Amino acid sequence: MTTPGEILQTSDRREVRARPDRITLEVVIRRFNPERGEDSWWDEFRVECDPLERLVEVLHQIKWYQDGTLAFRRSCAHGICGSDAMLINGRNQLACKVLAQDVAPTVRIEPIRGLPVLKDLIVDLEPFLQGYRSVLPYLINESGEPERERLQSPEERARYDDTTKCILCAACTTSCPVFWGDEGYVGPAAIVNAHRFIFDSRDEAADERMRILSDKTGVFRCRTTFNCTDACPRGIEVTKAIQEVKRAILFERF
Ligand code: SF4
Ligand code: FES
Repeated sequence: MTTPGEILQTSDRREVRARPDRITLEVVIRRFNPERGEDSWWDEFRVECDPLERLVEVLHQIKWYQDGTLAFRRSCAHGICGSDAMLINGRNQLACKVLAQDVAPTVRIEPIRGLPVLKDLIVDLEPFLQGYRSVLPYLINESGEPERERLQSPEERARYDDTTKCILCAACTTSCPVFWGDEGYVGPAAIVNAHRFIFDSRDEAADERMRILSDKTGVFRCRTTFNCTDACPRGIEVTKAIQEVKRAILFERF
């Protein structure tokens, strides 16, 4: 007798995992359609799926076989593109990184908070992207074209390694109570992406970014609640990056 998940050998000596029993997942989704009025409502669906199915595939099952009007964003389905951040059982997470078995028997899914909802789980990312664009999130170096690549030591590269991992999913910014109350605040993701260049030895615009982040909409709006670090699906130490930018501004050590 085999148990679900057990490694089996096929007749041609390949290893396969025994198929787990299927489960029924109750999926409760906050819906919104501007053509139906201003109020949102809850819809419930039941989906039979593999326990190792990812929630993004469960949402596909609903859209393809139960309600084609359900709207949500996704692209890579592998935790790389950052499209499918949602509030899943009260926590900002990527639907493609959550397994059905980890939320069964019931999962509640809502759009991320603090941004206008366009339809169902799709929010308007423009306020989030405005904050991102405002910190000049690209390499600035006016010293002329080098003849070969700009060299950097492993230690210099390690200084900002953590913040290179950002996929702009907005999970951190939309878990931040300061951002919920003040759309002008640039938000954690913008600061993470500023950090990525402020501490890059090849960049020459750290002063300009720190001037931008010294503004009343900048880094000192952070109240260090750590929601952002808890929410980040890439494991970035967001609060630490924010603290490092604050210290750099205060002591100009960068
Ligand atoms: S810092 Fe993490 S949570 Fe915030 S946008 Fe980047 S990847 Fe997403
Ligand atoms: S679909 Fe790309 S990160 Fe989830």
